[in-house]
Amino acid sequence: MRFGYFDDENREYVITRPDTPLPWINYLGSEGYYGLISNTAGGYSFYKDARLRRLTRYRYNNAPLDMGGRYIYLRDFETGHYWSPTWMPTRAKLDTYECRHGMGYTLITSSKHGIFAKMRYFVPLGANLEVWDVDLTNNRQTEAAIDLFSAVEFSLWDAWDDSTNFQRNFNTAEVEVPELGKTLNEMSPENNTIFHKTEYRERRNHFAYFSCSEPIIGFDTQRDDFLGPNRGWDDPIVIENGSSTNSVAHGWQPIGSHHLKVNLQPGESKRIIFLLGYHENPKAYKFDPVGSNIINKLDVWPILREFLDPSRVDAAFLELKHHWDSLLGKFMVQTPDVHTNRMVNIWNAYQCMVTFNMSRSASYFESGIGRGMGFRDSNQDLLGFVHIIPERARERILELAATQLSNGGAFHQYQPLTKRGNNDVGSGFNDDPLWLVLGTAAYVKETGDFTILDELVPYENETGTEMPLYEHLQRAMQHTLNNLGPHQLPLIGRADWNDCLNLNCFSDTPGQSFQTTTNQEGKVAESVFIAGQFILACQEMVQLSELHAIDGSDITFSKLPTAFYKEKALQMEDAVWAAGWDGNWFRRAYDAFSEPVGSKLNTEGKIFIEPQGMCVMAGLGVENGKAVQALDAIAEFLATPHGIVLLNPAFTHYYLNLGEISTYPPGYKENASVFCHSNPWIMIAETMIGRGDKAFDYYQRINPSAREAISEVHRCEPYVYAQTIAGKDAPTHGEAKNSWLTGTASWNFVAITQHILGIRPTYKGLSVQPVIPEDWQGFTAQRLFRGVLYNINVERKGKGNLVELFVDRQRIQGSVIPIPPDGTTEVQVLVYLR
Ligand code: GLC
Ligand code: GLC
Repeated sequence: MRFGYFDDENREYVITRPDTPLPWINYLGSEGYYGLISNTAGGYSFYKDARLRRLTRYRYNNAPLDMGGRYIYLRDFETGHYWSPTWMPTRAKLDTYECRHGMGYTLITSSKHGIFAKMRYFVPLGANLEVWDVDLTNNRQTEAAIDLFSAVEFSLWDAWDDSTNFQRNFNTAEVEVPELGKTLNEMSPENNTIFHKTEYRERRNHFAYFSCSEPIIGFDTQRDDFLGPNRGWDDPIVIENGSSTNSVAHGWQPIGSHHLKVNLQPGESKRIIFLLGYHENPKAYKFDPVGSNIINKLDVWPILREFLDPSRVDAAFLELKHHWDSLLGKFMVQTPDVHTNRMVNIWNAYQCMVTFNMSRSASYFESGIGRGMGFRDSNQDLLGFVHIIPERARERILELAATQLSNGGAFHQYQPLTKRGNNDVGSGFNDDPLWLVLGTAAYVKETGDFTILDELVPYENETGTEMPLYEHLQRAMQHTLNNLGPHQLPLIGRADWNDCLNLNCFSDTPGQSFQTTTNQEGKVAESVFIAGQFILACQEMVQLSELHAIDGSDITFSKLPTAFYKEKALQMEDAVWAAGWDGNWFRRAYDAFSEPVGSKLNTEGKIFIEPQGMCVMAGLGVENGKAVQALDAIAEFLATPHGIVLLNPAFTHYYLNLGEISTYPPGYKENASVFCHSNPWIMIAETMIGRGDKAFDYYQRINPSAREAISEVHRCEPYVYAQTIAGKDAPTHGEAKNSWLTGTASWNFVAITQHILGIRPTYKGLSVQPVIPEDWQGFTAQRLFRGVLYNINVERKGKGNLVELFVDRQRIQGSVIPIPPDGTTEVQVLVYLR
């Protein structure tokens, strides 16, 4: 069953009924001002940091689930009937409804009582505000008198305080309201703008504004006056009565609501623009007059005037469209499969931008207050994003590296506003540092910009500790080598990629965090996953150290020879074969008693997905047949029609020595759900042993577009990946959860584009080495790589994956296209697969 359809031409998903199984959301903004918006206009906004600069309030786990957003109420003056043109919050039945989620915008249209309403929400490029572009049309035979009310609920900036500290919060709210009854000139925001300025009187330099392009006849800023006693957003007293109370919030819960009269002749339309925005004043100019507590609005009026102008809004919307045309135009494919085309060309790339921006901070399942930017997460988010805006990837890498510890270890996360690392969700995840190597490598391969390796970056943001990025990478590698266990495998620390495999935790007290509690010394439990990851990282270091000449004059550290990483990789490989191979697949780990995890010796959790993916990606077993064995075991024990589960058999009770993984009922989250992030590792591994059909089959099992037809089972958005799909041991097998913010986005982009389609950046040029399904006759692609457009045409001439490469009609040996001479703008690439 479907709840909408894809409009690929316009790069939109069109939702055709408001009651989707879960809120189906979109993101607005991609630079500094951000919003989340659902298909019924729910959601919230913030500036840069979802915790520390929250503009509007949102209650997670509400009932109804998605309540609170960017609301408009329409009220028929004659009859008193009122409704929400976005369905929520009144849920009055609409005659027509459609929501189009597009690239950075959402358009909701509906009609009721002969009034057609069109609401387009977006954040203009370069602006710290969101536009609500509202258009009403009277399709009645008679004149319509409509009262229109807007509504947002302000958050008191720090979203954590906002949802906990009520004894204080209910006393602090302050607003400034428009003066009604002044002479109204055209577009004079002075008469229509509500300012939210809680705490501005003291240490905050920022405030929010909510403005509107048309004359208003009233407003409200105190929630209780707007809603009325014991009422909710579905039936505010002000809407029922049809008139605002002009309330001014002093304490309690500040809101913003405008009241407008819209009179429409038959067939007439009226456009009204609302702006919700964020502004910072320099400390010295906060107040006007000086010495008062009144916001100095000198700099904000011009912004309001600019964007309250409909022609400017039209232009800004076009700019946004063109922006996305150019971003997505960097990589386009045309394959025989519609789901592949649409995900690669549109939605997967778009989701990579969102995960790059948000890490795991703000979604409908991440509250924006729990987690900032994850170290391992952000490094992986780069992988699918780096070709879209390489400059931002560069900045991010340097930012991440600046939080690294001087011993090579890493903070697990940092706040985007302060850029400082913190231990709030634990520390000592021993896979973390290595992701910096893999993220940096991806950037250098994409751009050829080796200069990033020379950038001076501090440790823990401490001035005076600066070292070239290259040395940060060396220390990351060294961190693994300094932390080897009894089998010469890497110690796992708090956990590795799998946050919930907590081998040193031993928690028996309710409420303890598995991420911050440690009861074992941590000198025994080892990870085979990190071993594979280390070998993969060694391969990058081998190439980086070979290709990156360091200018002798500014060597402030000693550069290890290439041979060092070759040797360490071989030693680690020996350790894996000696202690990490279980006979038919790779073991997962050794616990704190040095007992194997993910072994046939276990009764539950005999086989895990992660080491099979990571070790084969690192090339282990590809030559000696063990990779085939491991991947066949995946097919036998872990693969389901809904994707590959994380482990099998699922843990049926709590294991003190394994930690959080066994807290989840079987089939959920890390306990044997299809934890989507790890599936593309298996796709990549399958391509490494030349099995294109298998790789693509796994790709399709979790491809959201390919699952659209079973939306009643999948339940999450069919246009983006979710973190998990309930596994075969769960009663709700096939149901997705935690959509949007997941490393799945990047890794699937990498798996399909770099390994199945095989268009892969390397240090020495773009490589084309497809491992596609046998029944594909070929595909074409356009890939912008280091400023040159590669027009790629792949034709199948035989059943295998042997590449015969022609560049501008010249036969080239191997699969790497040499970097073309300077000045080249386009090359034609022809690949025969034999
Ligand atoms: C979550 C975390 C990620 C972790 C994964 C597996 O997605 O954000 O860092 O690797 O869970 O536990
Ligand atoms: C929980 C989740 C895991 C996530 C972690 C982040 O353990 O199960 O997926 O990575 O929290 O702190």
